This record gives sequence, C-alpha cells and structure tokens, in this order.
Amino acid sequence: MTKGSSQVRRLYRSPVIVCVVRKSAMTPSSAVHFLLFSSLIFFSVSSSASQQSSRPKALLLPVFKDASTLQYFTTTHQRTPLQPIILVLDLGGPFLWLRCDQNYVSSTYQLVSCGSIRCWRSKGNDCKTCFSARWPGSNNSTVTHSATGGEVARDVVVVQSTNGFNPGRSVSVPNFVFSCMPTSVLEGLASGVVGMAGLGSGRIALPSQFSSTFTFGRKFAICLSSSNGVVFFGESPYVFLPNVDASRLLSFTPLVVNPVSMASDSTQGEPSAEYFIGVESINIDDKVVHLNKTLLSIDSQGAGGTKISTLYPNTVLEDSIYKAVTEAFISASATRNITRVASVEPFDLCFDSRKILGTRVGPNVPTINLVLERNVTWSIFGANSMVEVKQEVYCLGFVNGGNNPRTSIVIGGHQLENILVQFDLATSQLGFSSSLLSRQTTCASFNTTFGN
Ligand SMILES: *[C@@H]1O[C@H](CO)[C@@H](O)[C@H](O)[C@H]1NC(C)=O
Ligand SMILES: *[C@@H]1O[C@H](CO)[C@@H](O)[C@H](O)[C@H]1NC(C)=O
Ligand SMILES: *[C@@H]1O[C@H](CO)[C@@H](O)[C@H](O)[C@H]1NC(C)=O
Ligand SMILES: *[C@@H]1O[C@H](CO)[C@@H](O)[C@H](O)[C@H]1NC(C)=O
Ligand SMILES: *[C@@H]1O[C@H](CO)[C@@H](O)[C@H](O)[C@H]1NC(C)=O
Ligand SMILES: *[C@@H]1O[C@H](CO)[C@@H](O)[C@H](O)[C@H]1NC(C)=O
Repeated sequence: MTKGSSQVRRLYRSPVIVCVVRKSAMTPSSAVHFLLFSSLIFFSVSSSASQQSSRPKALLLPVFKDASTLQYFTTTHQRTPLQPIILVLDLGGPFLWLRCDQNYVSSTYQLVSCGSIRCWRSKGNDCKTCFSARWPGSNNSTVTHSATGGEVARDVVVVQSTNGFNPGRSVSVPNFVFSCMPTSVLEGLASGVVGMAGLGSGRIALPSQFSSTFTFGRKFAICLSSSNGVVFFGESPYVFLPNVDASRLLSFTPLVVNPVSMASDSTQGEPSAEYFIGVESINIDDKVVHLNKTLLSIDSQGAGGTKISTLYPNTVLEDSIYKAVTEAFISASATRNITRVASVEPFDLCFDSRKILGTRVGPNVPTINLVLERNVTWSIFGANSMVEVKQEVYCLGFVNGGNNPRTSIVIGGHQLENILVQFDLATSQLGFSSSLLSRQTTCASFNTTFGN
C-alpha cells in the first residue's frame, strides 16, 4: 500500500461495490445514545403519523456524528409496528439499504417481485417499467441474492415534517422502496446500525422518493456538525437559532454529471448517483496553486473531477494536487509566522496551535479557496481546514489520496461542517453557504422543539 492510500480513511463503501465493510465502525453505545437522543424528539409525535391531511413542504432527518469513528448517521422510523432504525448517511448513495434478515418484523413489508434494484435505480418507481426490462430474475419473484444487488422491497417509512424552523408532525411514506442486502454484504456492520441511507441523485434515493411522495421540489440540504446536524428535504427556509435562514446565504455552482457510475452493479453508461462539482482552480491566501488541470475534469471513463462525500471524514486529494496544496499552505503559513510541529497520523501538516489566533471562523490560518464553475468561490477557513488532533496541535485536515485515485478531489465531512449545502436535482445546482460560524450559528442550532 502506498503511503497515500493508507492515509485515506473511508468509513464505508457502498455495498453494491464491495463486500468488505470496516469492522466496528460505530460502537453500540454511541448508536444507542443517538437513538435515545432522537427518540426524545421523534417518539413524541409519531402517534400522528397517519394524519396526512395536508402535504408537508419539507421533511427533516436528524444527523449525529460519532466522535470516535467520525461517521455521520441518521435515524428514521420504519415498518408496522414502527421501529426506529439507525443508518449511516451516504450523500452519494443510490438508495436506502438495510439488513432485513435479522429482527425484521413488519406486517406491511412487501417484496417487489418485478425488477432488480438496478432497474429501479434507473427507471424509478414503476413496477411495469421494470417488469419488462431484461434483468436476470426480473420475471421471477425469487430475485437472486447476487453480490451486487439484494432484494427490492417496500415498507412504510415515517419521517418528521418541518416548516423550516422546528420539527413538525410525522408523515408516512407507505411504499418506500429500499434494498434488503444479503448478510454477506453487511458483515462487520456495527451493532445498532442496520444499513445506509443513500441521498444520491438516483430515482430511488431518499430525495427523489420523498419529493415524489409529497410533490415538493427535488432538492435537499445537508448541514453537518461535529455533534448534531440535520438534513432538510424539500422547500426552504432552513432556519438555525437565533434566526438565521441559511437558504438565503447560498452561492450556486452547477452539479456536474459523472457519466460513469462507480457501482459495479450499474449498467454501462449509467451516470453516477454521486455529487460532483467543477473545481477550476485553487488558491491559498489569494496565491494561485499550480495544478494539472486535466485532473480537475471528469474523463470519459468517469475518472477525475471533484465530488462531495460524507463517507470520508476529511478531504482527499490526488498526490500531485495534495503536494501543490500543502506546499502553498506551508509557504502561506510561514508568512504568517505559524510554527510547524511533527505530523500526527493521518495528517502530514501540523502546527503549534499556541501560535495561532482564533477567529469567529476558527483558527487564523491561510484560507483555501476553491474556485468553482461560474466563478464562485468556496472559501475554507480554519474551522473547516484545521483538525485539533490533540492539545496544542492543529493539523491541516487534508490527506493524500495517492497517485491514481478514481476521483481527484473528494471533499469530506470535516470540510462540510457548519456549512449548509443544498443539492437541487431539478435544476442541477449545488448551493453552499459560507461558514455558519460567521453568522454566529451552527448546524447544531436547529430548534428541536416541536412546532407545527
Ligand atoms: C414472465 O412470466 C410470465 C408469467 O409467469 C410469463 O408469461 C412470461 O413469459 C415470462 N417472461 C419471461 C421473459 O420469462
Ligand atoms: C427463479 O429464480 C430462481 C433462482 O435463480 C430459480 O431457481 C427459479 O427456477 C426461477 N423461477 C422461475 C419460475 O423462473
Ligand atoms: C496531468 O494528468 C493527466 C491525467 O492523470 C496525465 O495524463 C498527464 O500526464 C498530467 N500532466 C502533467 C504535465 O503532469
Ligand atoms: C513574522 O516574524 C518576522 C520576524 O520575527 C516579523 O518581522 C514579521 O513582522 C512577522 N510577521 C507577522 C505577520 O507577524
Ligand atoms: C471571477 O471573480 C473574481 C472575484 O470575484 C474576479 O476578480 C474575476 O475577474 C472573475 N473572473 C472571471 C473570469 O469572471
Ligand atoms: C424554539 O421553538 C419553539 C416553538 O416554536 C419556540 O417556542 C421557542 O421560543 C424556540 N426557541 C428559541 C430559543 O427561539
């Protein structure tokens, strides 16, 4: 293994690509803690689940970051009778998948006997379309447990609605499509977590199923933090205490379609469900970093480019980009008289935090600017660039992805925290706010008191 690749920590890989899942990615205690935390909010209203007199304009999922594994997870309610389930949040995941072979008891569970999950992914929520499609097993109710698929199933999912200010009544999606993965794929999943929630751009990912059920816009926004965050589905406002509507703070850049999915179960030419954006250049404290521009675009094989992922705790850069960015960061830091100290795994570039002043947007270190398509700039300030690895030591939270990674730049979780990032699938736009810390709020500041 090269040094670069050993530094890259990706917590889970989508089960459709690979069968090896990292062991004990979340301790049972943190999962249980999260469930208790979210139950306080959610059980109080789940009795109103069946009321659907008026359609919600937006939905809400709580997010929690596990401090020891740096993983983001969410909880929702499913089945009849309703059961809380904990899922890993996978921004680019194509659908929701679960282990169904253990403790799955539900009177509303339906096995979908037409079509494989890959047909449903690309064709959407219509049995007839997939019935006629030529998939192995598509005409056969005993759809095989292939290494790539799993069974397509439907069941009731209940989520909380929101007016953008507070959590509101719970609403149900009666025929939510998901995949039951075979146990072999789920091997090693920590106890407490039962699957993954895919927020990707596909037809059966959560955003599309929610928007088609409630006929609100095909858009959603994530707001992650080192503790509690939220995902909003549907219409804004997205308000954080004291009274900051983060949906008004967005800059927009096009979402870039990667024509080739990485998932091994996808058909040739199927676009990726993951979210890519066009980074055109990078500058640090307004000095341009010289990069090989070829790496910044996506080639015909789907390699290169920049994606956003919640499965990586930190940003991962292709080797030559990594070297150019860290060199520029070192020289900009020297100008600011910041003292380097020994590296701390998995990071190379660490600094004595005693020499660094604090600002509202974190440690006062060089600003890393990603210049995106349409000439908008994503500025990464200290709170998002630096990781406090121990007392008196901050490290640049970027890691070397080695020489030949599939994607040149992967913007990871730490760089997304306390920023509202909106994905508008209807207009194919990504909206991002600057750090909410500059507005004196955080992604953990959603008012969790029940409203209407
Ligand atoms: C699918 O099943 C139906 C009913 O069992 C049968 O009539 C049809 O010929 C089958 N189609 C294929 C392609 O196997
Ligand atoms: C359905 O698929 C299973 C597993 O591949 C196979 O054993 C069975 O014979 C098939 N049934 C029909 C009716 O084609
Ligand atoms: C730039 O990157 C591309 C793709 O990896 C590579 O083929 C090319 O040789 C690189 N160019 C330079 C000048 O390093
Ligand atoms: C950095 O240190 C040098 C020498 O001690 C000093 O002249 C310079 O003003 C300092 N720069 C900053 C930005 O503090
Ligand atoms: C992009 O924006 C920057 C700052 O807003 C401006 O200085 C620059 O001229 C713009 N470049 C283009 C190509 O529009
Ligand atoms: C949170 O929302 C509740 C319900 O709308 C409201 O009564 C309360 O004042 C809000 N809390 C704050 C700190 O604004």
